[in-house]
Amino acid sequence: MPLPTLRFLTCGSVDDGKSTLIGRLLYERSLIFDDTLASLERDSKKFGTTGEEVDFALLVDGLEAEREQGITIDVAYRYFSTANRSFIVADCPGHEQYTRNMATGASNCDLAILLVDARKGLLVQTHRHANIVSLLGIRHVVLAVNKMDLVDYDQAVFERVVADFRAASATLNFATVTPIPLSARRGDNVSGASAHMSWYKGPDLLSFLEQADVEEATAHRPLRFPVQWVNRPNLDFRGMAGTLASGSIARDDEIVVAASGKKTRVARIVTMDGDLERAEAPDSVTLVFADEIDASRGDLLCDPLNRPDVADQFAAHLIWMSEEQLFPGRSYLLKCGGAVIPASVTEIKHRVDVETQAQAAAKTLHLNEIGLCNLALSKPIAFDAYADNRTTGAFILVDRATNSVAAAGVIAFALRRASNVHLQALTLDKAKRSILKHQKPGILWFTGLSGAGKSTIANALEAKLLQRRAHTILLDGDNVRHGLNKDLGFTEVDRVENIRRVGEVAKLMVESGLIVLCSFISPFAAERRLVRDLVETGEFVEIFVDTPLADCIARDPKGLYKKALTGQIKNFTGVDQAYERPEAPEIVIGGDGATPEQAADAIIAWMDGRGFFALG
Ligand code: ADX
Repeated sequence: MPLPTLRFLTCGSVDDGKSTLIGRLLYERSLIFDDTLASLERDSKKFGTTGEEVDFALLVDGLEAEREQGITIDVAYRYFSTANRSFIVADCPGHEQYTRNMATGASNCDLAILLVDARKGLLVQTHRHANIVSLLGIRHVVLAVNKMDLVDYDQAVFERVVADFRAASATLNFATVTPIPLSARRGDNVSGASAHMSWYKGPDLLSFLEQADVEEATAHRPLRFPVQWVNRPNLDFRGMAGTLASGSIARDDEIVVAASGKKTRVARIVTMDGDLERAEAPDSVTLVFADEIDASRGDLLCDPLNRPDVADQFAAHLIWMSEEQLFPGRSYLLKCGGAVIPASVTEIKHRVDVETQAQAAAKTLHLNEIGLCNLALSKPIAFDAYADNRTTGAFILVDRATNSVAAAGVIAFALRRASNVHLQALTLDKAKRSILKHQKPGILWFTGLSGAGKSTIANALEAKLLQRRAHTILLDGDNVRHGLNKDLGFTEVDRVENIRRVGEVAKLMVESGLIVLCSFISPFAAERRLVRDLVETGEFVEIFVDTPLADCIARDPKGLYKKALTGQIKNFTGVDQAYERPEAPEIVIGGDGATPEQAADAIIAWMDGRGFFALG
């Protein structure tokens, strides 16, 4: 039986010679990339992937949807073959400083060639790539020690790099590490033995790649079929289209929709070339159910006797890929299979030092950093640990403001707390409590720079609301930071958490029927939206106190601007930290010279028109 196609990727720093190596390989063997349409089609059928869709199939399905939203991941797959084997190279060009492309390519491969410049030895980038390769489940590594010609083909140099790598990768999850000394430029040990390194007895690179046995069959694993889309061309046909991520399925088999627990049988397995009796990973098929049960894009179809986890919390390794740091508590979009769900990082368990594998405490992750995190989703999804399934255990996080990929994640395990805590049904609800108070509850959210006048206006407003017999509470930044949030400072990460907590508290108070006045700088649009999304439409009223920075500095009621401008206080909003102006606040105050009393009256007038007062 011929060896299966080998999917591999090359990684290394900018000048390590990635392209030279592949170019040399092809040149020496007179190979050409045969990525013609025909071979693409053949390979796609065989491996269940087509062209660029390969990019996303393993990290996240649905490239087209990503495209529409401007999320593109630049990995080109090149196809070539020798007499002995076919190869797919994940080519991750450009942006060498980013791990994003590399991680995307890696999720799809069985083997990685880690290129090292013999003169430089292991670099941070080498360690980082080794970590990501290991995290993403690649078990076989070729340590290609390149540019041997520039170190006089010295065995000692090679041995030193190899020893360093073995020490550094001892705790990584590699089944085989094959070191090869080579010179891509000169052609030593690329596709034939080198005349300059008689001390090396191992195979040249191409010979090794031709016989490497890396197969990890997915067909015998439990059935996992992520539904990519529901094909419903007419009323008589309804099929679930997708690619088997693992396992096999036969006509008449019982299957379960993992998240809902609904079961049915497979009536038909449809393909372009007619119906099948049986399909196995990685076939792409359309399944027709025997019964009309609900399933949609993002659902995972499984063997009822061997189900995935279904939970709304899990621990996962994140590879952070955004220039903007990770903000625990902020809402990101999590894409796993076809599912797209709001999710946040609730805790960073530790950050991994890629050189030593040491685990360090961390409050955030920066570009290219890796950390083990707990995540909470807004509703449960079906998934597996990445170690069990590289498709159903992988996800990406998308920044909701920019729509760009913020992180790639591999799931470690479900958090059981999720299944042990259930919402308690309460007899009294918000509606009943509001009727008692004769008002419509809501959050009046004051945002603006320090010294803009938020608290003064909120105070005046609360006094006037009392006259209207409204039931209110005022949460003010300075006060809350003396109690509930006294552990938080003014870094961006802490401000995100400050607002997240205040939002949760305000929501509880809305549940109790109160009108909640909140006065916080709340500089970031994402967290203001987070609070808005916590309550019902119409209950969140964003009041932008738009006092120009120059006026705030002139007023400087607490003397803080003076300190900030002379560098005595760091991270001061408007001075050395950003304030994101609200784009569509319900109310804007400022510009017309109104006094705080007049501003409060204007807010009451606005509320009057929206039924906040004198209900029931
Ligand atoms: S927020 O950005 O997290 O919403 P919050 O409204 O709670 O801030 O607290 C802001 C108040 O903290 C300011 O009114 C000011 O009195 C005080 N403060 C102290 N240091 C800073 C700082 N570096 N930046 C802004 N406000 C600060």
